[in-house]
Amino acid sequence: MDANDAFQLHLQKLPPQDEKTFETIYTLGNGHFGVRASNPLQGNNSHFNGQPGMFVNGFYDLTELSYGENYAGYAQNSQTICQLPDPRFIIFELDGIRSDETPYDVKLVDKNLDMRSGVLMEIFDIKSPTNKQFRLTLQSFASHADKHLFVIKYSVSALNFTGALTVIKQHPYINQQIQTHSEDMRASQPSTVLDRTFIQSKLPIMQISTRKSQLALIVAQQTLNDNQMQVTMIDDLPSHSKTFDLTQGMAQSFSFVYAISFPHPLLKTTLSQSAFAASAEKRLANKSFKQLLDESTAKIDQFWENSDVELTGDDNLAKGIRFNLFHLYQAAGNDGLTSIAAKGLTGPGYEGHYFWDAEMFMLPFFTYTEPAMARQLLLYRYHTLPQAQHRAREMGVENGVMFPWRTINGEESSSYYPAGTAQVHINADIAYAVDTYVRVTGDDDFLFDYGYEIIVRTARFWLSYGHWATDDAHKDQFVIDDVTGPDEYTAMVSNNYFTNRMAQNNLSIAVKYSNQLKHSHPEKLVALNVTDEEIAELNRAADGMYLPYDHERKIKMQDDLSTSKPVWPIKDTPRNQFPLLLHYHPMTIYHYQVNKQADTVMTDFLFPKDQDSAQLKRDFDYYEAITVHDSSLSRAIFGILAHRLHHADDAYHYFMQTVLMDLSNSQGNTGDGVHAANMGSTWLSLIYGFAGLGLEKESFNLSPELPEAWSSLRFRFWFHGRQIEITITQLAVTVKLLTGTPLQFYLKHKAFKLTKDRLVNQALN
Ligand code: BGC
Repeated sequence: MDANDAFQLHLQKLPPQDEKTFETIYTLGNGHFGVRASNPLQGNNSHFNGQPGMFVNGFYDLTELSYGENYAGYAQNSQTICQLPDPRFIIFELDGIRSDETPYDVKLVDKNLDMRSGVLMEIFDIKSPTNKQFRLTLQSFASHADKHLFVIKYSVSALNFTGALTVIKQHPYINQQIQTHSEDMRASQPSTVLDRTFIQSKLPIMQISTRKSQLALIVAQQTLNDNQMQVTMIDDLPSHSKTFDLTQGMAQSFSFVYAISFPHPLLKTTLSQSAFAASAEKRLANKSFKQLLDESTAKIDQFWENSDVELTGDDNLAKGIRFNLFHLYQAAGNDGLTSIAAKGLTGPGYEGHYFWDAEMFMLPFFTYTEPAMARQLLLYRYHTLPQAQHRAREMGVENGVMFPWRTINGEESSSYYPAGTAQVHINADIAYAVDTYVRVTGDDDFLFDYGYEIIVRTARFWLSYGHWATDDAHKDQFVIDDVTGPDEYTAMVSNNYFTNRMAQNNLSIAVKYSNQLKHSHPEKLVALNVTDEEIAELNRAADGMYLPYDHERKIKMQDDLSTSKPVWPIKDTPRNQFPLLLHYHPMTIYHYQVNKQADTVMTDFLFPKDQDSAQLKRDFDYYEAITVHDSSLSRAIFGILAHRLHHADDAYHYFMQTVLMDLSNSQGNTGDGVHAANMGSTWLSLIYGFAGLGLEKESFNLSPELPEAWSSLRFRFWFHGRQIEITITQLAVTVKLLTGTPLQFYLKHKAFKLTKDRLVNQALN
């Protein structure tokens, strides 16, 4: 495979999938918006089956949640990301017949995503009702240089006729119809109603607004200077339009740019429409498709420079890895006001919500390879602290904050609290991510300005939510009742191991940073009202944290009662009854030991020093046997642990399932959007798993071991302002310092000194 091919995602080389799956796979995005790669003639035509649309990060409407029994404190509104009209949409007119009125035949011929330039190339063969055939070629990209821009070039060439073809670019509809209504609660139901006005009645610059959340954004449609198309009023809508004289074999091209601007509500500013229109015009003046593309590609080049993982020995796998990394890059909000949704910006699944997925599964990739992006993602949480504080009080928690389980605007949006709000571990997950970011980057400014506050205020939550036990079983230990851990097939338990261990970590890092800042920045503690007494109290709770353990089986217990329940008969359950959540009442599931996803073993993964390998093996064996992986967040964790246990075949198998999840649609719902956390897990598996990267005090350790099928693995990361490159082969590991000052690091826990002039090359045995 040549170097360039390694970044091409060619339709013909992918396993066959339905239309919606490919729309998701080929979505283009830049963290600000995502555009599904749908049939550009579909629009709102119910004749077609696709699910076109554009998603803007943070742009949602509220839909009232209706409960038969509406208890105090229930989330009252769901935030739903808006499925905006498809900017790719185009209308053709042949022999007086418009394609939006009478469906034309549209056949997808080919698609290719060049992950180096970010350009998606597509070919469709189109036939009019009068049997005139022409080929439509699209080249499009979401700009990574100017995050507001979506750029698309259309080329048309006649296949069996000579004559006039009229092109109309207008958006006759604003509410994108969604063709299927799924019973799957993980899919989003179309429920938002959008309004539109044109900023100046005769230009295709529209303001789209939501009704309940009262948000507005502007989408400006402009042509680029490589073609001239007039704006005219067609059916009372400002439209670009032109009639081309087609001759066979001669393609005609024209390009458009969409400038999408959204003043995020957390900014607390209002949009000046005229200022936006002026700035959109200025931004685009005299720019060609090529110029805009070059600017965007330069940004993507930087991304690959920092973040590529180069695997040799399996070309298809190498490409699959890049596909996952590229999607992560396309998904990540980069403005401090937005995060990464469970589906990125590729589909409406999970209503566009942010979960713990962002901090625990995706953030490490950015923390190590694009720390500036990681900082922005953490800032999003910082900016929603007021909502988290309000929620804590609403839930009767006197101190600290309570981050929502699922959200866009910072408020809780989960309607089923046992598998939602009760997952209070999200507080500790966010704190864990802040700590990792600070330890990897050494960004003390961030710690001082934002991170410390997040850590202290989340830690305070545990002091209020947990308590010192008095009963015999837990006497004098700090316990946390009525929570749900990551495994959503077990709910509302006492002392979920994962939650307690993460809370303990949250408390300990609050103590660590308080003690550190007490000397360097005492004013910070004063500002947050952190006293010596409070530090002592946090410390006492961390030390006294109860961690359930089954002494008979010698395993970490998922919660106080977990091992006493009967085990779900996994092997006797027909394949078509999975995922269980779509077939059984939650209480039926809760009645058994059955895990949707990695739960207790997440702590083995996150705190490797907590246990020796015998303990890890017992935990792994026990929990693997009762885990059904109905969540996409599961397999990779088991894979990493299998690797640590030197179960090479299992580790490899889990890894392959992780990398190929969306390309093979193995969860069956990629059509609703990619599994972004699983994409982050691809990186975790490679770097925390096969390369064995782990943090040490102000340093890092590598314990590499490659699967037999691979020849080498190369990747880069940043550590305290230094860029480091690691190359692992079957025989040796090479560590290079690309930029920055010398440092000491560990290889299989043995210390090495790394300088720019002296790389470290060590044989592996
Ligand atoms: C998982 C959660 C996850 C959510 C969004 C659920 O199926 O159980 O852990 O956060 O999906 O990806």
